[in-house]
Amino acid sequence: MKNKKTKNKYLLIRIKIALSIVMKGKVSLKKIFNAAHCWIAQKFRFVKSSKFPFLINFELWNECNAQCTFCRSEDGGIYDLNPDNLGQASIEKGRMPIKMFKEIIEQSKDHILLAVPYVNGEPLMYPDLYEALKFASDRKVATLISTNGELLTEQNIKKLLDSSLDFIKIAISGFSQDVFTIQHRGCDIEKIKENMKNLARMRDEGGHKILVMIDYIYYEYNAHEYSEALELGRELDFIVSRRPGNLHKLAEEHPELAKKEKPQDDVTSLPVKDLCEWPWKVMTVNWDGSIYPCCDYVVWGDQKTDAVFQIGKSKIEEIWNGSTKINNRRVHLTDGRAGYDICSECTRTGTAFKF
Ligand SMILES: C[S@@+](CC[C@H](N)C(=O)[O-])C[C@H]1O[C@@H](n2cnc3c(N)ncnc32)[C@H](O)[C@@H]1O
Ligand code: SF4
Ligand code: SF4
Repeated sequence: MKNKKTKNKYLLIRIKIALSIVMKGKVSLKKIFNAAHCWIAQKFRFVKSSKFPFLINFELWNECNAQCTFCRSEDGGIYDLNPDNLGQASIEKGRMPIKMFKEIIEQSKDHILLAVPYVNGEPLMYPDLYEALKFASDRKVATLISTNGELLTEQNIKKLLDSSLDFIKIAISGFSQDVFTIQHRGCDIEKIKENMKNLARMRDEGGHKILVMIDYIYYEYNAHEYSEALELGRELDFIVSRRPGNLHKLAEEHPELAKKEKPQDDVTSLPVKDLCEWPWKVMTVNWDGSIYPCCDYVVWGDQKTDAVFQIGKSKIEEIWNGSTKINNRRVHLTDGRAGYDICSECTRTGTAFKF
């Protein structure tokens, strides 16, 4: 269970994000009503949710310039987390046409509070990212991305700032190169620190209202470097947050370090009795248009989709309360997390980890 101090800190971060998008005019009564309706539908266990989710995730491209230990192999193959597929091919890679992103935003712009254009890839790899962010922003849809920070060149920072991105998280897992590359294979922490300093400077020079967060991926082996991230955060006026590092593959790659980590996924503490919130609140669209209940599905091979979005034909509103989606909620209501293999060992307790 999270301690009170951590919970309060996250609450403060969320209040900051909410205030910042209110100030930019990206929140309307209609959007608040839609989000409240999602919340009520889940709380009161209705199979039908609001007209739209309150947040949509988009996997624009699942390619990455890094090969983090927990996420993908050294040659860049994305791990398929479905145990039935163990030892088989990695997750298929592909790019979403920007037209699909735009069409979904156009349909949902008056209702969603946030668009999150990344799931399991590096958003700065997607060549049309800036156009996508600006498209959403011009329609008063707030946006958030998470990046490893390596590609935050001055040129890309300028494009991000010009696109009116609202919130950027920079995930790091150490402050010295030796510690950092244990997870972040293929990235250079000194370059990322430099990039962060440039981002702070360009934000201030241009008077941009972007919120920046250093997302420190916390392990026992990098705990001693956390204070340096905090220090840099203070210096640059970035929020600093801490999230538990995923232990996947650590024991195989670094057995001596893995022994010192505290096990996180103890089956006795899984939130099996918590009704998952995602099917009522969030939609995830994979690069090929496959629509899933949550982010985890994009790295869990062979899952049934809620629908496949077809440009020029599909309607988000119809999919969101269509028969497959209703059935997904019904299974959650009747069988709980045990109703799906992917859900039965899931540790997520809310939707807020995204923001
Ligand atoms: C798969 S990444 C995709 C976005 C981007 N490439 C990044 O790394 O931020 C999505 C999320 O994973 C988180 N993440 C990165 N490395 C992690 C790790 N070793 N353990 C747990 N979460 C991690 C990041 O904070 C990010 O929010
Ligand atoms: S930077 Fe993000 S997407 Fe890339 S390998 Fe690391 S966690 Fe995965
Ligand atoms: S229980 Fe977990 S895996 Fe299943 S829909 Fe909810 S967040 Fe996703």
